[in-house]
Formats: sequence, C-alpha cells, structure tokens
Amino acid sequence: MTEKTQLRSREWFDNPANPDMTALYLERYLNYGLSQEELQSGKPIIAIAQTGSDLSPCNRHHIELAKRVRDGIREAGGIALEVPVHPIQETGKRPTAALDRNLAYLGLVELLYGYPIDGVVLTIGCDKTTPACLMAAATVNIPAIALSVGPMLNGWFRGERTGSGTIVWKARELMAAGEIDYEGFIKLVASSAPSTGYCNTMGTATTMNSLAEAMGMQLPGSAAIPAPYRDRQEISYFTGRRIVEMVHEDLKPSDIMTREAFLNAIRVNSAIGGSTNAPIHLNGIARHVGVELSLDDWQEYGEHIPLLVNLQPAGEYLGEDYYHAGGVPAVVNQLIGQGLIHEDTLTVNGRTLGENCRGTEIADTNVIYPYEQPFRADAGFRVLRGNLFDSAIMKMSVISNDFRKRYLSDPDDPMAFEAKAVVFDGPEDYHARIDDPALEIDENTVLFMRGAGPVGYPGAAEVVNMRAPDYLIRQGITDLPCVGDGRQSGTSGSPSILNASPEAAVGGGLALLRTGDRVRIDLGRGRADMLISDAELEERRQALEAAGGYPYPPHQTPWQEMQRGVVSQMDSGMVLEPAVSYRRIAQG
Ligand code: FES
Ligand code: MG
Repeated sequence: MTEKTQLRSREWFDNPANPDMTALYLERYLNYGLSQEELQSGKPIIAIAQTGSDLSPCNRHHIELAKRVRDGIREAGGIALEVPVHPIQETGKRPTAALDRNLAYLGLVELLYGYPIDGVVLTIGCDKTTPACLMAAATVNIPAIALSVGPMLNGWFRGERTGSGTIVWKARELMAAGEIDYEGFIKLVASSAPSTGYCNTMGTATTMNSLAEAMGMQLPGSAAIPAPYRDRQEISYFTGRRIVEMVHEDLKPSDIMTREAFLNAIRVNSAIGGSTNAPIHLNGIARHVGVELSLDDWQEYGEHIPLLVNLQPAGEYLGEDYYHAGGVPAVVNQLIGQGLIHEDTLTVNGRTLGENCRGTEIADTNVIYPYEQPFRADAGFRVLRGNLFDSAIMKMSVISNDFRKRYLSDPDDPMAFEAKAVVFDGPEDYHARIDDPALEIDENTVLFMRGAGPVGYPGAAEVVNMRAPDYLIRQGITDLPCVGDGRQSGTSGSPSILNASPEAAVGGGLALLRTGDRVRIDLGRGRADMLISDAELEERRQALEAAGGYPYPPHQTPWQEMQRGVVSQMDSGMVLEPAVSYRRIAQG
C-alpha cells in the first residue's frame, strides 16, 4: 500500500484554485460545529454510514456503537460524520425488505461519491443492510470497513433455546396442531428476541455478517460478538481507529473483495450452514466490484463442504454460543487445515485471512465441529436446471430422513422422484388455499410458489417455504418439498428449491405449470422438469402470451416501478442492471 498524499475531501475543503466553492463548503460545515483548522488540517473525513434507526430495531444499537466508532476515528486523527442510510428492516417493511436493498445501495453510492468523504465505516447487521452497504462500497471504492451490530442474546423459553425466525415455524406447527393459542403463539415467538441485535439463528443476518468477515471486510473475530456484550463496544472503537489508517494506506474494497475472497466466503457459507440468500447477495456484490462469480461457483466450491456450525435452524445453538465457540476465525481455521482457504487474501486490518485466522482453535466442539467429524456432510447448494427454470438452488443438508423415506425411496434412482404439482400464485393465494381439501394435497405432492420473484412480488418475497395443510400436519407430515421463484428465510429449514430464475413474471417456465401436472425432480442430476410435451408447453406459452403474459400486481410506489424495469434475476444478484457498469467511481 502506498501512503495517500491527497485526500479527496481536500477538493471540497482546501482548494485554493477555487476559493468561492471552498468557502461555501467550509462555512456550512463550520456551521455544524467543526473548525476551519480541523477541516483544513489534512485529517481524513470518515463517514459512519448509519443503518440503525427507530424503524430498524435489528441495527438500532449502531446508534450507541457509533459513539465508540467516533472515539476511535478521533483518536486516530480523523473527523467523523455520521450519515443516514435508508433503513431496511427485514421484518417491518412491506411488501418485502428485499425491495429496499438496491434503494439503500443507490442512496449510499450518491452519498459517498457526492460528499467530502475519504473513508467509511459501514454499520451492517439486519439481512439486507450488509449487502447494500458492501455493494455501495464496491461501486464507489473508497476505503471501507464493515462493523456488525452483532446478534441478539440467546432466546429462552422453559429452559430451551428459542431462535429468531426458526421459532415461528415451530410455533405455527404447534398452533396448527392445537397445542397453543394466539396469545401463546406471540409469547413463544417473542421469547426468541430478548435484547438488541439481529437474529440469533444462522439466518441471513448471521450469514452475511460472517461472510463479510470471511471476505476480509470486518476486523477478525468481530462478526459474532453479541450486540449487548462489552466486546462489541471495544471492537467498534478499534474499527473507528482502523478506518483512518486504511485511508492513509489507501486500502480499498477492490483490494480486499477479490475472486479468491468470494471463493473463501462460499466455502465458509457451507461450513456455517449459511442462508440461501447468500448467493443472491454475494453474486450482487461481486457484480458491483467487477468479480466473475456464478451459481456454478457455488456448487463447485461449496457443495461438498461439510456443515461445522451447530446453530439453529439446522442445529441446536444460537449466536452467543457461536461467539464463545470461536466464531468465524475458528471456522476458517478448520477450512485452512484442509487447504480449502486462499490464505493470502487481504483483510481490513492489513493482514491476510490466513494470518488472522490460522491457529484459532475451536473453544466448544458442541457448537463448532472439527472438519474431520462434521455436524453434517455436504452443506452447500446444488444447482438445478430444467424446463421449469434455467437455474434454482437447493440446500441439500435440509433433507430430513422422513423426507428421504417419502420421496427418495426408489432403489434404482434414489435421488429422483416424481410427484403432483400444486401451484400457488403468490403468498396471498397460498394463505387462502393451503388448507382447502379440494387441492388434494397429499404426502407425495410438491408445492409450487410463483409470482414471488424480483419483478413479480416485487423485490422477491421470502415465501417459498410453505407449510403442509393442517390435515397433513395432524398426521405428522410437516415437510412437503417446495419450489419457487421467490426466496426463503434463512431461518427456515424446509426442503425447498429456491431462487428460480427466470421468474414466472418475466416468462420463466414456472409460468406454464398447472396444478395437477406431474413433475420430476432429479437431485442427483440437478434437473427439475414438468413432464409435459414440448408441443403442449409451446401451446401454453402462446396462450399465456396472448393473455398478456404472467400477471403481477400493480406498482404501489414509484420505486417499485423503477426497480421492476431494471432489476436482474436472482441468479445474477438481483442488482440494478444499469448500475453495474459504474465501478470504482471515486477513482474517476
Ligand atoms: Fe433483522 Fe433478522 S429480522 S436480522
Ligand atoms: Mg430473512
């Protein structure tokens, strides 16, 4: 790294060639309370990109942590400016928080590019806040360091751990079986959220925060620290100190988020049992930083990595346990032991991932398993293709023994099955009809969800994991395979084929499927097909086109309409396509 001599903020605050504008810039920031001496002293101006707000409880603790970040920035010789990022609250935003990932991205790009900012602390946490911030940092490419808000403390109910999101699926089953009522339902679910912080399960938040560290964008060991712990305050201070040094070293996102860093993240994702949302977000970040990354990379590098982390929904434990067991560095060290990590990738502390993580022992082998005796085998994603879609993914590790018995019992072809399709058009249709006996859903049915993709929903809803009808649950059948062009919550463990691209709303094969059709799913060969002749499919396609295509609901907001016009499909990151060509814009 070369020592940076000219800070970009000098163009605003200390530009003798343009005294008019310099004076104007200066007087208004003086008005905020800074002094001319500070603004012209050559101190880096550091933005704290604040994703916490009253609307976003998962990240709200960042408002408190920002004080320690400021302390660190100031002590290292920088000037801190806390700036708002458009809030993204996973559980609060209608129709879906995923709609706002690209909006927050756009806003942050404008902010980092258009103001006198030399470096940025990205306050990450709740699901989409992490990719939104990393995507913006990739596009602008000024020195950037991420700071996780940390997970909530473990939830407890009657002596058992209750985990975010995962408890909802459990509570639904209990209510459908008549074991709890509405009040009991809410009490049980709320027990999983005992403190400030993000979801304490291995959902999309813990996944994306872990991967941000594995990619080198956070200080080592920081992702897993629970939000209320004192260590979280401490790491906030060190993060603030470090970003100032990074500006002087000119250490940029493009130096850190290389293809090797993404491949490391793919492997770590399998080992932690990461969310099926991770490929969407990582492929999106990769596109903005200009790294080639495809779903095939996920299968090639990730599929056969075993699951090491015993966290809900796949396992038993929660965020506090993950931290005490060693967090990301302990997982990375297990992979290093197998030669599965590019150790020389650079991280925000100026050292390599190998230097940071090599030798970090597991502190609790109930929570993080050693590679040689993993919690489960083959924890990555299988990519499926066929006449239903060009690509979709399945997390093979969620296949239960019960599922295997019901669907994968053909001794001649144990990884394939045929079944009847029952098709729902969006989550509202599913909620209205799932318990309708006329659908004749039985234990050999595949449930399909369409109209739930980036254009159809819009933003792509987390709705593909559908429960079985009440009458089947009462017979003890809870898992039916689900297939769809939407997403699935990372906190759900249901056996689903997800993220189908292209979606029905842009003419994907799912739009041609009808309830009652036979489908064949071949997990071994990575195929998913309707057993319908090509001639019949062509007839259906022409009929659909004559009817104006697969219908989706009208735009509710201007942003929905704008995004629908330019968003890519999930396999290529669900990004704003015209934004992809804007790379490293701070370098001109
Ligand atoms: Fe915000 Fe899960 S809802 S992290
Ligand atoms: Mg989610």
